[in-house]
Amino acid sequence: MDRSTAAAAEVGRINTFFPLMPKLGLRWARSRPWEGKRIAVNAHLTTLTAALLRELTLGGGDWVVCAANVHTTDPSVVALLREQGIEVVHGRDRDNHDRHLATLEHGADLIADVGFELLGTLLERKPEAIEGLHGAVEITQTGINRLRASDVPFGVVNINNGLLKANVENRHGVGEGLWPCVTSITGVHLAGRRVLVIGYGPVGQGLANYARARGASVEVVEIDPVRRLVATYDGFPTPTIEDGIARADICCTVTGHPGCLTVEQLELATTDMLLVNAGHGADEIDVAGLKAAAVSGDQLGPHCVRYRLGAKAPWLTVLGAGNPLNIVLNAGSPEPVLLHFALLGLTLEWLANTKAFRGEVLVPRALEEEAARLALAARGHG
Ligand SMILES: NC(=O)c1ccc[n+]([C@@H]2O[C@H](COP(=O)([O-])OP(=O)(O)OC[C@H]3O[C@@H](n4cnc5c(N)ncnc54)[C@H](O)[C@@H]3O)[C@@H](O)[C@H]2O)c1
Repeated sequence: MDRSTAAAAEVGRINTFFPLMPKLGLRWARSRPWEGKRIAVNAHLTTLTAALLRELTLGGGDWVVCAANVHTTDPSVVALLREQGIEVVHGRDRDNHDRHLATLEHGADLIADVGFELLGTLLERKPEAIEGLHGAVEITQTGINRLRASDVPFGVVNINNGLLKANVENRHGVGEGLWPCVTSITGVHLAGRRVLVIGYGPVGQGLANYARARGASVEVVEIDPVRRLVATYDGFPTPTIEDGIARADICCTVTGHPGCLTVEQLELATTDMLLVNAGHGADEIDVAGLKAAAVSGDQLGPHCVRYRLGAKAPWLTVLGAGNPLNIVLNAGSPEPVLLHFALLGLTLEWLANTKAFRGEVLVPRALEEEAARLALAARGHG
């Protein structure tokens, strides 16, 4: 089987059991909302993104796709997208800015971004291209935080803070998908293990609950007192990070902020510990600092490297090089992500038919209701 065939087969299987995207594809093939438009998409190049783009491109337009992270790029997806006539910008030899600039070279009427990365480069490095931009959509909390810290002269639809993403994808998609990755890489069974979740937003809430459902004893570190209080009512102890680290067998960061787990904090570990990230980038855990400070280390297998900060110190095993592990392994049910992608497509369709505006706008409730109705039908509960 060649590369693109493998990805196409997986897209076909996904669509068989949850036929949400093909329904939208039929609709877009009829209405052609993006005819004559150029659309740039910054995304993790997984088979789920391939399932989305297959349907989006039926709606006309000229599509260019940028790999959001070289570590989450599936080469079979790159091959499939190219076969479908989509321009794909990726490559380990290019840094993020290089990829963004190459993507923006094509010009864009619409942008779908993750992490405000493409839009950030547009603002900082290619301001002359802003004039042609009709509107954009951002899908992550990290991206929304960056958006709010910038003064954007164009409109951005925030689909992260709508009802659907937090309640379905962030909470259930990541929560259900991440822990099996830890087991498949290490063989570690969660039951009876002490798990520390750092960050108690929707993603952290899902991770903590799914870990508890697997029999782990879970603690939560959260800097926001409101969320820390919610965690206590949800039944999780909320120690300081120092106390939590000293007890944990598995530590998972999910804050969206770099450097929330430092080498100084890791020095407090008293027992061997697995380090996992499920947040946005690869820098929530200071993996580079850990590597530099380690007195020894070895690669135990794919996505699994352990380090020691002293000759007799516990082993600290980093999974997925600190990248969001569920995305690296493309794990979990595809349904939550596809629901969210359906909303992304509906938002791009809405943007194409809406007058340009300026600043952040929350995703219209009508689009969320439409996506939810389509997802219910795809689950056989129409
Ligand atoms: N892995 C995936 O598939 C996936 C899917 C969706 C979102 N995400 C990413 O996961 C991250 C979390 O998403 P969310 O929706 O829960 O975001 P969120 O911003 O609502 O929650 C993050 C929480 O972390 C807390 N926090 C920040 N810094 C901290 C620190 N140093 N110590 C302890 N707590 C800290 C914040 O107070 C906040 O409550 C984001 O970066 C998002 O982009 C990943």
